[in-house]
Order: sequence, then C-alpha cells, then structure tokens
Amino acid sequence: MNLETLIREAEDVRRFSYAPYSRFTVGAALLASDDTVYRGCNVENASFALSLCAERTAFCSAIADGQRHFVAIAIVGGEETQDHLEYCFPCGSCRQVMTEFCESDFEIIVAKSCNDYTVYTLKELLPHGFSLK
Ligand code: THU
Repeated sequence: MNLETLIREAEDVRRFSYAPYSRFTVGAALLASDDTVYRGCNVENASFALSLCAERTAFCSAIADGQRHFVAIAIVGGEETQDHLEYCFPCGSCRQVMTEFCESDFEIIVAKSCNDYTVYTLKELLPHGFSLK
C-alpha cells in the first residue's frame, strides 16, 4: 500500500471523530505487516482524562484483531471546522504505545493532505522510549 492511500484512510475516518469538548478531530490509519489497515479516531469523554487518541484507538483495534507487526501509521488532525490542516504530531503517550508494539524504523506519517506530509521514524519521534523487551 502506498503512503497516499494510507493518508486517505486517515482522512476518511477522521469524520467519525467524537470530539465535542476540544472540537479537534483526528484520524489515524495503521498499516499492519500483512497489509491490513486499522483505522482510529479520537473518542472524547466528559471526564476529560478518559479521552482516547486516534492513534491508540487504531492500535487497540489492531491488537484485538490479532495483529502484532506494524509498518506505518498515517495521522491527520485539526480543528473540526478548519479547511486547511496543520501537522498533527502524536502525543507522548501514543509514542510510548507505539514503542510497545513497533520497531524503531516504524514510520509515522504526519499529514496535512495526501500530497503534503512528512515521514518520521518512531526512533526520531521517541528516542530512548521505555521498553522491557
Ligand atoms: N489527539 C489525538 O487523537 N491524536 C493526537 O495525535 C493528538 C491529539 C486528540 C486528543 C483530543 O481528543 C484532541 O485531539 C485534542 O487534544
């Protein structure tokens, strides 16, 4: 699967985001090594600390489907009403969750659109992440 297709998946799932508190909607598309794509969006809660990020929603879906090997994740996010997106970098907690399941060369695609994006490695975004493995 090419990166543009993965970004389109993230853009598409972003419309399902549940973000009535921040009004900041995020979509993520996680590519497993068998080419399956797992999609996630942020899911907020009135008890704010319980809110889930799009990236972790995608990872939980993939793990619950038996996946353990991942290649890349595409992330798009911005204010609900905003037409022109800014780059939406994964938060520190999501980077640590990626460290649990991914190798250091796992690709994190931070995108404004399918022709405006930057590809980082997990090692670049979270050097020295905590791991017991
Ligand atoms: N959020 C994500 O889903 N992923 C990110 O990479 C950054 C932030 C969500 C959490 C919260 O629902 C909203 O964006 C505003 O912080």
